[in-house]
Amino acid sequence: MTCAGTSPQGKRIMYILGLESSCDETSAAIVRMQTDEVMGRCEREICANIVASQIKTHRLYGGVVPEIAGRAHIEAVSRITYEALETAGLTISDIGAIAVTTHPGLIGALLVGVNFAKSLAFARNIPLISVNHIHAHVAAAYLADPELKPPFLALVVSGGHTQLYMVEDELTFCMIGGTRDDAAGEAFDKIGRVIGLPYPGGAALDKLAYEGDKGAFVLPSPALAADRPDFSFSGLKTAALNLINSARQRGEEINRADLAASYTETIVRGLTKQTSVALKLTGAKTLVLAGGVAANSHLRAALTSECEKRHVKFVTPPLALCGDNGAMVAAAGYFRYREGLFASTDLNASAADEM
Ligand code: KG4
Ligand code: ZN
Repeated sequence: MTCAGTSPQGKRIMYILGLESSCDETSAAIVRMQTDEVMGRCEREICANIVASQIKTHRLYGGVVPEIAGRAHIEAVSRITYEALETAGLTISDIGAIAVTTHPGLIGALLVGVNFAKSLAFARNIPLISVNHIHAHVAAAYLADPELKPPFLALVVSGGHTQLYMVEDELTFCMIGGTRDDAAGEAFDKIGRVIGLPYPGGAALDKLAYEGDKGAFVLPSPALAADRPDFSFSGLKTAALNLINSARQRGEEINRADLAASYTETIVRGLTKQTSVALKLTGAKTLVLAGGVAANSHLRAALTSECEKRHVKFVTPPLALCGDNGAMVAAAGYFRYREGLFASTDLNASAADEM
């Protein structure tokens, strides 16, 4: 088998290894890219996407402990890389490029993936590609919809980010709006923890919200009234905490399902409102929803109907590709590979959004 070969019909096949270790999931994936140079198309197939989640470990502490995350990545990274190769029925000699998340994220966690990728790339003389985690979340949408092409608007909602980007081309992201403080995922996790749900609270709140009354509590919207579609989640979080604490001071326990429903509704409405402002501002005809919080069923439903109303195409990855995974890193890495944007062995990691 060849790692990058051109067939007589002008079709080029290559396998990209994607490595992700920015937070509490270690992931190694192999994505097969088949480019048709005549038709200008690229078909992507996930051959393996192995995710080693550390959630059970961090659950004991109610959140991610960076030092523990780094150690767990070290323990998992080579095992899952070989598991990915085995699942795909390939060997390391078949890999045409190694894409690795370099930023943003927890620095100690990122460094594990970056150093592993650098060593493997150097030892086997394989091109190395640096990938931005946010761009990778968006790239999961190309795996979901082979027809997807920029320009489009992307709403990226995760544990660390809540941002609206106009994606001009696969490598050019222009920020249209974003959070000025916490991220939507962090807001879900915080209230989840306070009402006793297991970490991370986002998925549990999503379910619990179906059992409550979404009009039970009036909470401040995270959508800011400003000249660009920005968000702020800190006031909403404080308001929800005050409700919980006031009830406790009266010796009562708040109705958790009602709070989950009202809180989720407030977040979903705020995200939908600013996304529609951004759609109007940019005139985008396609919306991509990506990131861990993109798994939220209420948000998916709200944006589906908003896009229907506006005759905008809506693309969001399947649930398995919303959370952190290596396949999205490989998918994003392909675009840099195509442009010859390779990293050298002095590649570093960065906690910040920019390198
Ligand atoms: O993208 P991700 O896996 O990691 C980061 O890059 O941060 O996102 C994790 C976040 C967590 O805050 C988690 O609670 C949230 O995604 N999440 C959800 C749901 N599933 C995961 N939030 C709301 N509803 C969900 N169904
Ligand atoms: Zn993420």
